[in-house]
Amino acid sequence: MLSLLQEWLHLLVRWAHVIAGIMWIGDSFLFMWLDSHLSQPTKPREGTVVGELWMTHSGGFYEVIKRKSLQPNELPPTLYWFKWESYSTWITGFLLLAIVYWLQGASYLIDSSVLALTQGQAVALSAGLLVAAVVVYDGLARTPLVGNLRAFGLLGLGLISATAYGLSHVFSGRGAFLHVGAMLGTIMASNVFFRIIPAQRAMIAATEQGKPVDTSLGLRAKARSTHNHFLTLPVLFTMLSNHFPSTYGSAAPWAVLACLVTFGVGIKLFMNKRLQTPAWAIAGTVLALAGVVGLTLPASAQASAQAPAGAVSDLRAQVIVLQRCTPCHALKPTHPSVTAAPKGLSYETPEQLKQYASQMLPQVKSKAMPLANLTQMTDDERAELITWLEAQGAGR
Ligand code: HEC
Repeated sequence: MLSLLQEWLHLLVRWAHVIAGIMWIGDSFLFMWLDSHLSQPTKPREGTVVGELWMTHSGGFYEVIKRKSLQPNELPPTLYWFKWESYSTWITGFLLLAIVYWLQGASYLIDSSVLALTQGQAVALSAGLLVAAVVVYDGLARTPLVGNLRAFGLLGLGLISATAYGLSHVFSGRGAFLHVGAMLGTIMASNVFFRIIPAQRAMIAATEQGKPVDTSLGLRAKARSTHNHFLTLPVLFTMLSNHFPSTYGSAAPWAVLACLVTFGVGIKLFMNKRLQTPAWAIAGTVLALAGVVGLTLPASAQASAQAPAGAVSDLRAQVIVLQRCTPCHALKPTHPSVTAAPKGLSYETPEQLKQYASQMLPQVKSKAMPLANLTQMTDDERAELITWLEAQGAGR
């Protein structure tokens, strides 16, 4: 009963997280798009007009005028803010992190072959990372370096890669990637909460009191929202990464992540600038993609043990799977950590083994399965199973 409740809670929170995320990222994309498409006013306009643009949607026409500041008497009765999209994405994301990675013995987070953490230690490291990331980022974003977006981006890429490298020596592969994403998402939400919204509040308060508005506040908020904007695609990848064990299970997961982050930023730049994208940025994006392909080719994937000398028989493969996988992957699992075949995958018959071979291979290779190695698969068994799965045509 408890595990059923937990599953429903998981579903509701995940659903809410995706919805909130779509709204937040949708806002970010729309406002960056608006800013980059403003043109000089076509007719005289009042106030500190930065630009204007026209759009058509929903059976009508929208006239948008951007002003840098307002006069006290110009404050509209209703002013729309965009902040709850961000806050609710973070809150649901944090709950999801706790439900999936902290509860149930933190079995998705701990990989004892990487580091034998206790549940308490893993949770403390996970939470500590989120706080530390905000402190470090915010410190850096107050230095003059923030004025140079390219240099700041390169430094960020270096720090993200270093974090991925460090985390892959602490957490399970999938836990490490997810935590890079959780860290970036937390930085983004903290930008909105601590910097962007307060700056906007201060500007409105000054307007209301008829004091001169410090527009540098708006510029600084804009720098933070630009950082957020370029982080969206990399963060989205890390959130999906747990479905792609060949990325976090490769020989150099931090390098794969660095390439994917670069690729995500490059694609966002291209979406913004289209044909005006500088050649160096296009070259970097293509190189990053080539890097991902090169780094995840089977030859460079992690070999957990010496490959067994000869072929592995069907019977031997079945014995290994029955012992190490079917405690969970069965119609009626016997392992206490699951109540139904995870993802509907049961490996009880020789036919099922062959049918799912190509799905099993990356999970076994990357050590994502058996989950947290709860069934204590040995390195030799893993190597034997990999050989057998490859002989079935998996991974080709
Ligand atoms: C302790 C329980 C447990 C054991 C043992 C286990 N698994 Fe899993 N497996 C899971 C759970 C839970 C999931 C769902 C993971 C998720 O939600 O991302 C899963 C998911 C999978 C998936 C689907 C992954 C995806 O994201 O599509 C494959 C394939 C898989 N396991 C293969 C195996 C193989 C092969 C073994 C044996 C070598 C094994 N598992 C052992 C619990 C287990």
